[in-house]
Amino acid sequence: MTKKNLVVLSSGGGTNLQALIDACQSEYLKASVTGLVTNKPDSPAIARAKKASVTTVVVSPKDFDSISDWDKQLTKVVKELNPDIIILAGFVLKIGSLFLKTFENKIINTHPSLLPKYGGQGMFGHHVHKAVLKSKDTCTGISIHWVNQNYDAGKLIDQIQIPISPNETLKSLIEKIKPIEHEFLIKTVKLILKQ
Ligand code: GRF
Repeated sequence: MTKKNLVVLSSGGGTNLQALIDACQSEYLKASVTGLVTNKPDSPAIARAKKASVTTVVVSPKDFDSISDWDKQLTKVVKELNPDIIILAGFVLKIGSLFLKTFENKIINTHPSLLPKYGGQGMFGHHVHKAVLKSKDTCTGISIHWVNQNYDAGKLIDQIQIPISPNETLKSLIEKIKPIEHEFLIKTVKLILKQ
C-alpha cells in the first residue's frame, strides 16, 4: 500500500498534530505528515513538528498585503507538500477561496463539539467548552467535517458523543475530550484514506 501524505494546519498547541505524527510512526496510518503549516511563529505545534523532522512553514496573513495574497501563498506552500489530505487541527483562520478550490474534497477539520452546535467564528479552544458548560447540555462531542467557505459548516463526516458529568468543570471537560479527539481523528483519517 502506498503511503499517503498528510498536511496539518494548526495555530496552537498541536496535540492533534502529535496524534497524527504518532499514528504515522506506529504505522497505524500508512502515511507521513509531510508538513505542518501554521500562521503563528510561536505555535507550540512547531516544536512537535521539528522533533519529528516534519517540514514546518509559517504563513501568516500579517506578512501579506491582502487575504488574497495570503491565500495564494498558503496554497503554493501546501501544494509543494503534495497532500492527499489536509487536516485543520486547531487552525483558527478562515480558509481562502483559492485554497478551497485547489484542494477540493481534501480538507477536513476537527471541532470539539457536536456541530452545528457551538461552531462558527470565535468558537475555538476553551470558548467552545465554556459555551457547552453554560448550556447545561448533558452531552458534548467531537465533529469531523469537510471544510467549506464557512467556519465549521461543511458536510459532516462523523461525530462522537461524550457525556458531560454533573460536576464537570472546564478543566475536567478539556482533559476528558482531548484523548478522545485524538483517537477519533486518527480513526477517521484512516477511514477517509480507506486503510
Ligand atoms: C482541538 O480541540 C480542535 O478540535 C480545535 O482546536 C483544538 C486544537 O488542539 N479545532 P491542539 O492544538 O491540536 O492541541
